[in-house]
Amino acid sequence: MAQIGKDIALAKAFLEKGELVGIPTETVYGLAGNALDPESVALIFETKNRPGFDPLILHTSSMERVGDFVTTFPEKLKVLAEAFWPGPLTLLLPRKQIVPDLVTSGLNRVAVRVPKHPLTLALLDILDFPLAAPSANPFGYISPTTPSHVEAQLGQKIPYILDGGSCDVGLESTIVGMEEKEIVVYRLGGLEISEIEKLVGPIKIKDHSSSNPQAPGLLESHYAPRKPFILGNLKELIVKNREEKVDFAVLSFSDFFPEIQPESQIALSADKNLHEAAKNLFAAMRTLDEGNAAVILAELMPETGLGRAINDRLKRAAVK
Ligand code: TXA
Ligand code: MG
Repeated sequence: MAQIGKDIALAKAFLEKGELVGIPTETVYGLAGNALDPESVALIFETKNRPGFDPLILHTSSMERVGDFVTTFPEKLKVLAEAFWPGPLTLLLPRKQIVPDLVTSGLNRVAVRVPKHPLTLALLDILDFPLAAPSANPFGYISPTTPSHVEAQLGQKIPYILDGGSCDVGLESTIVGMEEKEIVVYRLGGLEISEIEKLVGPIKIKDHSSSNPQAPGLLESHYAPRKPFILGNLKELIVKNREEKVDFAVLSFSDFFPEIQPESQIALSADKNLHEAAKNLFAAMRTLDEGNAAVILAELMPETGLGRAINDRLKRAAVK
């Protein structure tokens, strides 16, 4: 079983030995290893059961340090980094050779971000190397937002989890890069598109598919509970599943259904606050997945602000 604690010196010692550590970020927990050591990076893929074509994000503590890993930093992306780092933004930048092929799955660009969590920033500060860290879940499953989520699934395989409490944002970072002179979003995430557009004008959101895994977190089926996850109009879905005598649980934006057992339903935000809904989303999906119901019924959020990224995750969870 993994030890859980706040000891960054101990986390550093494990990482220097080539072992992996669960780390808190503002988005989700990461499964971290030395990004410059191919063996540590290989261990990340093995531990997560992740296919080798799905590259990893490199985490570092400051914009200055990014220069060690990338050949150029386009001005427009610098503007975003200055505004939003540390924070839920990942940039795709041309990589230097020092970054192992395994980290980028052989692609020319490396994904980089400065996460916003005091413990992890302090850890990155005392390390001589950046951390490669995918979300700390088995490939395809729901991302973890608490130390106990990490412990439940990877606790047998890693020695230490740095305890930074519950993640503030609750959705993975927004991934952004450039194509020609245009800014392109490859994954919707915890940084809202409107925040980016305020600084750099209209940007393009790339339509991704499982046949084009530019950012394979965008594989059609991902972030998925084990149980069938059905999206639609909740009132109608409830009536239908009642009639068919299916044992169901309900994940709503804000509604509470008095006719359903309280333990069989979770409302993401009673006040219809999308930040609160994002923060609660993955933990709620896990709770219902671990409960007794046979299926989970859920509904989409409004398509505004963080609602877009939440809906992206809900749709991927619903694909079988
Ligand atoms: O918020 C986050 O980004 C979290 C925390 C731990 O930092 N990390 C995370 O990592 O979500 P992961 O591995 O679960 O998702 C990273 C995504 C994948 O979809 C991957 O395909 C994409 O980033 N990615 C990484 N490097 C890339 C590259 N060089 N080119 C294109 N996509 C890349
Ligand atoms: Mg992930």
